[in-house]
Amino acid sequence: MGFCFGVVGCGYVGSAVAAHLRGLGNEITGTVTNPARLGELCELVDHPRIYKAGQSGSDPAFLDHLDGLLISMGPSGSSFDEAEYRSVFASGVSDLTQAVQQRRRQSPLHVTYLSSAGVYGDQGGAICHEQTPPDEDSPINALLLEAERSVLSLNSDVIQACVLRLGGIYGPGQEIASFIRSASGNLVAKNGSHINAWIHRDDIVRGVEFAFSQRLQGVFNLVDDLQLSRRELSNALCDEEGLAPVIWENHDRPGARVFNARVSNSRLRQMGFTPSISSMLESLPIG
Ligand SMILES: NC(=O)c1ccc[n+]([C@@H]2O[C@H](COP(=O)([O-])OP(=O)(O)OC[C@H]3O[C@@H](n4cnc5c(N)ncnc54)[C@H](OP(=O)(O)O)[C@@H]3O)[C@@H](O)[C@H]2O)c1
Repeated sequence: MGFCFGVVGCGYVGSAVAAHLRGLGNEITGTVTNPARLGELCELVDHPRIYKAGQSGSDPAFLDHLDGLLISMGPSGSSFDEAEYRSVFASGVSDLTQAVQQRRRQSPLHVTYLSSAGVYGDQGGAICHEQTPPDEDSPINALLLEAERSVLSLNSDVIQACVLRLGGIYGPGQEIASFIRSASGNLVAKNGSHINAWIHRDDIVRGVEFAFSQRLQGVFNLVDDLQLSRRELSNALCDEEGLAPVIWENHDRPGARVFNARVSNSRLRQMGFTPSISSMLESLPIG
């Protein structure tokens, strides 16, 4: 018999997780905030709900009968809006964790929360693991870390909760390699010497399934194996197609949120999880 699994935030990642777990025979409840997406959600999940964490009147009753929950909430819109970040990661996450604690049926529940490897901030390109102190100085990272702590505080006799710190997401419809190549010959106003972390969407889906099946607790980096600087990555992508390199800056812009770390996935590997796509260089379409 399948499980009852909830996905709060059926966006790019949440939808893929919902479709995969439903295909395995589980009963899926999925949420979006935007009523215009309800038709799409009805096709995707067994129990579609409009739910906005942090908004009064939003009904969290769907949490009552779940065995597993993925929290995959992110601010909408492509440009950065601090108020929107606060509404999702401060009031939204704390409201949702409170609703989880106050479920009417206190049955065993596993919770996976998607966070970002960006919380490591500027580690000067050094290798970092889950126990490496993250960057509490950047207001955004402090917000994301507070959201992580709020979810981890759920751990109790009946609830097991874990945080997956994701690299930048690439995958179908989010072709970061093509996007980087499209900057060939142009100046990009970011420090090219900084090392970022990445993860393919399908490995996030596998990682969420793994976290649920193993009832993981605590923090885990879910990143692929690529540990190149922006410049090294764009050079590899552009060279392959005979394109001019992307031109990066060699300094940080004042006030920019810096992410410069070789984020290790060894903890998840030790638990038995291996990314199926080791980097976006490997996942490129052939021919
Ligand atoms: N993109 C990256 O490279 C990256 C990197 C690291 C971590 N992450 C994290 O990975 C997660 C998934 O990313 P994604 O690309 O799948 O995001 P996405 O496509 O923007 O989806 C976010 C989902 O959250 C929902 N949502 C927004 N505010 C909410 C609220 N207050 N309450 C409940 N639901 C809310 C949205 O509803 P609507 O569908 O109605 O808009 C949407 O379904 C996010 O937590 C993000 O922070 C992303």
